[in-house]
Amino acid sequence: MAFDIDMIKEVYASMGERVGKARELVGRPLTLAEKILYSHLWEGKPSQKFTRGKDYVDFAPDRVACQDATAQMALLQFMHAGKPKVAVPTTVHCDHLIQAKVDAKTDLKRANETSNEVFNFLESVSNKYGIGFWKPGAGIIHQVVLENYAFPGGMMIGTDSHTVNAGGLGMVAIGVGGADAVDVMAGMAWELKFPKLIGVKLTGTLSGWTAPKDVILKVADILTVKGGTGAIIEYFGEGATSMSCTGKGTICNMGAEVGATTSTFGYDESMDRYLRSTDRADVADAANEVKEHLTADPEVYANPESYFDQVIEIDLTTLEPHLNGPFTPDLATPISKMSEAAKTNDWPLNVEVGLIGSCTNSSYEDISRAASLAKQVADKNLKTKSKFTITPGSEQVRYTIDRDGYIDTFNAIGATVFANACGPCIGMWDRYGDKAADGPRNTIVHSFNRNFAKRADGNPNTLAFVGSPELVTAIAIAGRLDFNPITDKLINEEGEEVMLDEPRGYELPPEGFAVEDAGFIAPMEDGSGVQVVVSPSSERLQLLEPFVPIAPDSLKNVKLLIKAFGKCTTDHISMAGPWLRYRGHLDNIANNTLIGAVNAFNKQTNFVKNQLTGEYGAVPDTQRAYKKEGIRTIVVGDHNYGEGSSREHAAMQPRHLGVAAVLVKSFARIHETNLKKQGMLALTFDNENEYDLIQEDDTFSFVDIEEFAPGKQLTLEVTHKDGSSDTIKVNHTYNASQIDWFREGSALNMIKKENA
Ligand code: F3S
Repeated sequence: MAFDIDMIKEVYASMGERVGKARELVGRPLTLAEKILYSHLWEGKPSQKFTRGKDYVDFAPDRVACQDATAQMALLQFMHAGKPKVAVPTTVHCDHLIQAKVDAKTDLKRANETSNEVFNFLESVSNKYGIGFWKPGAGIIHQVVLENYAFPGGMMIGTDSHTVNAGGLGMVAIGVGGADAVDVMAGMAWELKFPKLIGVKLTGTLSGWTAPKDVILKVADILTVKGGTGAIIEYFGEGATSMSCTGKGTICNMGAEVGATTSTFGYDESMDRYLRSTDRADVADAANEVKEHLTADPEVYANPESYFDQVIEIDLTTLEPHLNGPFTPDLATPISKMSEAAKTNDWPLNVEVGLIGSCTNSSYEDISRAASLAKQVADKNLKTKSKFTITPGSEQVRYTIDRDGYIDTFNAIGATVFANACGPCIGMWDRYGDKAADGPRNTIVHSFNRNFAKRADGNPNTLAFVGSPELVTAIAIAGRLDFNPITDKLINEEGEEVMLDEPRGYELPPEGFAVEDAGFIAPMEDGSGVQVVVSPSSERLQLLEPFVPIAPDSLKNVKLLIKAFGKCTTDHISMAGPWLRYRGHLDNIANNTLIGAVNAFNKQTNFVKNQLTGEYGAVPDTQRAYKKEGIRTIVVGDHNYGEGSSREHAAMQPRHLGVAAVLVKSFARIHETNLKKQGMLALTFDNENEYDLIQEDDTFSFVDIEEFAPGKQLTLEVTHKDGSSDTIKVNHTYNASQIDWFREGSALNMIKKENA
């Protein structure tokens, strides 16, 4: 399906020489991640050694993938770049804008009505600029990419943080903001700080109730949501090679939950099998010819401590199934400890809904293993206690599991099959109508990746736990959070005690994958005549105006907009759920700016002081009031500010509303880059205790902004309400070209200038 075998062969043709040169420059054997990075340098053949975690490097990714929510802004930006066609193979996937409510057919029909304008826009821009278009219902971006485009040793970027899923097929695939995607689509280099490397050695093999999901849930426990920041995680060992390719995809997918730049696995037979079963025997053949470059040099895995910055070892034979949550994906509880943990934390034991599928876990293996449990409901005369839903990852998976009878098996336990789309995984789940904000305290379990408050259903009182599809299915059957299928019995309809048998399934469909209409629309050979129309009165789409540079003068009287307390993810900065409908309309979506952030002074959300009037109000309204007076503002935050997704809206919205700077204890990588791209100041406290100095009525002055230079601290004078002041030092990671973005107003302004 439109994958480019010639492009892949070209990558492989130059790999040997580039890897050889890199090995010589680095002076030692190379990890897989290094081989892929050094063979995708913008300069071509490597000419220098890079320092991990320090050097900014220009790369030349092979592909770009965009999902519908982020593609709108990415394509709106690309249209400004002045190019006739995308420079590298690019695809757009319509998956985020389909709300799950009734069932696949009804929900898809409704989405096609309500988001028609956006889908048409994306399709026509794709057609015009040579972009492959996957229509609504075709599937979730990461599953479709794994099935069609991912290839061992390749490098890809995607406008979604779970782009990293393609690491399951041995890629270095990285989630970026739309602005980065625009660079690559426009034929420019893509810049990344050369990542650090974490090696995860998997010994033993998975068996019984334990699934690949449990590996990443355990890694999240060890590394926490910050532990992978700035690093590529490379998995290896017998546990890695004995696992399915799609299982590897699950593990890589949730690498985003530990903040990792990406994760990857060396090429092995499971990948060969997966490529052949998804109709890409030619890719498998090509990969087999260069397979020594598609995994680390043997010395690396024999002695990992000498080559990785950090090494973790997990024994799969003794690994227990886990449930992680609630509210954060790194709070891991082995299933045998859940009863105790739930009691201690007062987590509601009754499980209302079990949800499987999503981009993270909807492989044929996942579904067949979950179905083997669902089948036991009838066989053992049980009754499923929780509601149960399935979101297939692609039409190919859905069609195949339907053909093989699994959908019938799930239907027999009362399941709802949602559209092949994100749905509940991204908050597009209409569970409560307009009552979500005051929803009841309740527990759900799902096999997705994220479980931040409100993430699935918009209800802040929903406690979401993440587990493997097998465990989620077993728990949904039992209806209890503390059900441990390894040890616990269930009482069936006849009052007998029964136990669930271990899940069983197939790595790949024994009769092969099948599909009638996969949902792909190829672009026209010459799209120059295609007209892209955006109505000026549209609520959903708005053509962009270039950002005006932030004048140094305006940085002398900067007001505090909000001092965010604790976790402030991109969901807090630019909420998803119902707001997804405005992703292509900057002014409209700006009305959700920071409404989920907790104000450090009153611990409330969306309730901040307007220093001009002394009154409290919503963050976007307060910010618009400052903007009206021509006053710039600053946002102050805690650690890992902007963790979560790659959405550049979280940077564009504050920028559009007039925020000049974000000053935090530390940043999540993608968000920091996004702020830079939009021409803002992304700064960190030199002394993080100085976060405590910031008061509600503070005014900030950037005293040496005229001397903004790489590696040079900036000085900030903070004047308090009583007239006293503090002078603090702040750090930044801007290099010279990023400082140009700030001076020009945005990276896009820079591209346009260079194209002029
Ligand atoms: Fe979709 Fe992202 Fe999940 S692509 S299915 S929302 S994590």
